[in-house]
Amino acid sequence: LHSPLIAPSILSADFARMGEEVAAVSHAGADWLHLDVMDGHFVPNMTFGPGMIAALRPYTDKPFDVHLMIDPTDPFIEAFANAGADHIHVHIENNAHVHRSLQHIRALGKKPGIAICPATPPEALQYVLDLVDIILVMTVNPGFGGQKFLESQLPKIRTLRRMADATGRDIRIGVDGGVDVHTARLATEAGADMMVAGTSVYGRKDYESAIMALREAGRP
Ligand code: DX5
Ligand code: ZN
Repeated sequence: LHSPLIAPSILSADFARMGEEVAAVSHAGADWLHLDVMDGHFVPNMTFGPGMIAALRPYTDKPFDVHLMIDPTDPFIEAFANAGADHIHVHIENNAHVHRSLQHIRALGKKPGIAICPATPPEALQYVLDLVDIILVMTVNPGFGGQKFLESQLPKIRTLRRMADATGRDIRIGVDGGVDVHTARLATEAGADMMVAGTSVYGRKDYESAIMALREAGRP
């Protein structure tokens, strides 16, 4: 088992100082930067698009982990790749031809990830596991930071860990939503090895100790 990676979500950062906020968590020990793209249609909130991501790219060398909560997805994949995304997550729920989306991400030289909402069963990912490098298990209904971690998703993480290991490929499992020092522990015990954290990093004064605390809590 990997020691878990920490990916602060800039959704909870100060939007008026985003460049500095990205640089700050990067210096504070973040492994990846998690960027939540919302369109007001697939989810009931809006954030930013490829222009923002391109503008943030010079502020860190860390991988950009881009979570697309948009519908449709396919027409925008190339724009996010060109903007500097390293990993691109698409949702299983709204992409009927998701193999095409995932293959497109791979063909652009980026890591494909599949995101799965709380109500979607783990078996929905069975036929895409050979195409993904990361599974992003939503532990809240996507749209907003600061929601409560849904412990009902822990058995799903366990099932997906078994399914991912059975492929023989190296697949990371991330959890996204409501991650704090308590739920980080539950998630990693269930088999997660990446944690997105918005409020529990950007909501704290000291980003470095916040990231360290999450890393420590999730240590196998
Ligand atoms: C929710 C987003 C998350 C969000 C998590 O729709 O996908 O990445 O930023 O925020 P916290 O950690 O505050 O739950
Ligand atoms: Zn996210």
